[in-house]
Amino acid sequence: MKKAMGFVAAAVLAAASMGVQADGQAVYDKHCKGCHVAGVGNAPKPGDAAAWDARKAAGVDAMVQTVITGKGAMPPKGTCATCDDASLKAAVEVLLAQ
Ligand code: HEC
Repeated sequence: MKKAMGFVAAAVLAAASMGVQADGQAVYDKHCKGCHVAGVGNAPKPGDAAAWDARKAAGVDAMVQTVITGKGAMPPKGTCATCDDASLKAAVEVLLAQ
């Protein structure tokens, strides 16, 4: 039963992430880019390997959790109050791909 639930969850996530890729870019452009590109409040800049390596070691899911709760100068959900977790994860992936 647990296995089946895991499978369903994985399938839902896979389906969600397929449609969300474009959303991730839109969310990133609208809500995340401003602070991160400028390094507002010490936000790690896109492509700054030194800033991202330790965070990448913790994993994307840990980073998404940090975004959801907020950290330091970053408000909860990185200011995208209406974003669901999947959109925030997609935005994190866009940020990491810069
Ligand atoms: C108001 C400015 C601001 C906005 C808007 C913002 N961030 Fe951030 N972000 C920060 C700052 C500052 C940090 C560093 C926090 C720290 O380590 O103290 C950070 C850290 C992060 C991290 C690293 C988290 C970790 O685990 O250390 C990720 C990933 C991230 N932001 C993604 C996003 C995404 C995705 C969005 C848009 C939905 C976003 N941010 C919007 C300022 C911002």
